[in-house]
Amino acid sequence: MNRLDGKVALISGAARGIGAETARLMVEAGAKVAIGDVLDERGRETVRTLGDAALYVRLDVTNEEDWHMAAAAAVDRFGKLDILVNNAGLFLGKDIEAASLAEWERLCAVNLTGVFLGTKLCLPALREAAQQSAHGSAIVNLASTAGLVGSTQDPLYSMTKGGVTLFTKSAALEFARKGYRIRVNSMHPGTIDTDMGDQVLATRARNLGTNDIEAARRQVIERLPIGRMGTPNDIAKGIVFLASDDAAFMTGAGLVADGGITAQ
Ligand SMILES: NC(=O)c1ccc[n+]([C@@H]2O[C@H](COP(=O)([O-])OP(=O)(O)OC[C@H]3O[C@@H](n4cnc5c(N)ncnc54)[C@H](O)[C@@H]3O)[C@@H](O)[C@H]2O)c1
Repeated sequence: MNRLDGKVALISGAARGIGAETARLMVEAGAKVAIGDVLDERGRETVRTLGDAALYVRLDVTNEEDWHMAAAAAVDRFGKLDILVNNAGLFLGKDIEAASLAEWERLCAVNLTGVFLGTKLCLPALREAAQQSAHGSAIVNLASTAGLVGSTQDPLYSMTKGGVTLFTKSAALEFARKGYRIRVNSMHPGTIDTDMGDQVLATRARNLGTNDIEAARRQVIERLPIGRMGTPNDIAKGIVFLASDDAAFMTGAGLVADGGITAQ
């Protein structure tokens, strides 16, 4: 189950956090993985822990040329590209009155333009690999629970993730209509223990009028039906499933892993 033997993946923003854990699980499941990020040192360190099955490429997701180079590097090294994970993302943590136009534009560039460019520029390689594969190729986009329901902490982040949710469905429909055999699905994490998770807690603490991160963490956990925050591993397992042939009948769908927060 959830095996990726012989598959090649490119994961954006995979130097750390959910992306790095996804790279680790994908290698464990038999895939070769190209890790793209702007944190070169951290990215190379992550690759060192994964050995020959992984490759680091400098990839700023807002830059077209970087995407061309990253897709080409994956194909040059591993022979093809079956899986794209649009994982790179930014959180802002400001309310509408405090956010500036420049901050909004930066958020859009990474969370929205980055997903559009990744999808467009990896498409030729994904289409080619799909022709040789029983169930085709796969794209997994990192949305969020904030792309399904409103966010109490970050309305602009929520607006970008809502865009990722619907772009996922539209891309799935476009590629199906064109007969490309590329499934497109989204992953919707709740609050996950990563650097971004720390930023979410810091924002929550600020909105509570304190700088006590642990108080914010307790508040998050109290509201979670499952009673704990998520780990990168909780999310990486879902991404591996969506990328694998076990999800062969899923496209345009979203997988929620949020400890039950959006069930209430
Ligand atoms: N942590 C959470 O609570 C949470 C919840 C819901 C959704 N998500 C989503 O999951 C994804 C991964 O988040 P994470 O928690 O691992 O965050 P993280 O901050 O730990 O990792 C994000 C990675 O993206 C990279 N990145 C940022 N800008 C980039 C750019 N322009 N080009 C390439 N890489 C870039 C960063 O360098 C970093 O390595 C994001 O899309 C995030 O929005 C996270």
